[in-house]
Amino acid sequence: MGALQLRPLSKKDLPDVERIQAHVTRQPVPQPWMDMVAEHVDQQHRIGLVAEQDGDVVGFILGEIKIGGFGTELSGWLELVGVDPDQMGAGVGASLAAELFAELGRRGVQEVLTAVRWDRGDMLAFFKKVGFDQSPFINLHRRGD
Ligand SMILES: CC(C)(COP(=O)(O)OP(=O)(O)OC[C@H]1O[C@@H](n2cnc3c(N)ncnc32)[C@H](O)[C@@H]1OP(=O)(O)O)[C@@H](O)C(=O)NCCC(=O)NCCS
Repeated sequence: MGALQLRPLSKKDLPDVERIQAHVTRQPVPQPWMDMVAEHVDQQHRIGLVAEQDGDVVGFILGEIKIGGFGTELSGWLELVGVDPDQMGAGVGASLAAELFAELGRRGVQEVLTAVRWDRGDMLAFFKKVGFDQSPFINLHRRGD
């Protein structure tokens, strides 16, 4: 098996991201979700990265830079990460996260935030492993009337 290659997301990767997401969720991927992913190609305040193994895209990660939001001057957000279920547990997710942090650092962002459902033990374990801890923020939630 060749080395894992990490590179920016491009338009031609979108079908692969869709395939991985459909495999992870075992559901068809809604078009608005794909439109959201496409908004991470070549942007100043958004970052999209993919991991490629032997010519196949095996994972993706999306991040965003927020300026002046949430009581911080500049923060990075890990928005979404997905790894092909056939390739999970092989370090792809951790490599993608490390590259996202490096890219945020190159853009001057040191503080990175994310959110996870409290009952997603797998995601929590993954986020802890790549260096996240409890944040000083609490999330608030308002339900529509
Ligand atoms: C979570 C996810 C991104 C991890 O990617 P991955 O390539 O499988 O993970 P890695 O091999 O890089 O694992 C790194 C560490 O994370 C932790 N981890 C990863 N998957 C885990 C799981 N299912 N349960 C518990 N810990 C896990 C482990 O500590 C692991 O380190 P170790 O292998 O030394 O024990 C991937 O499994 C995935 O895409 N899951 C579904 C994603 C999803 O639901 N996304 C929607 C919300 S963002």
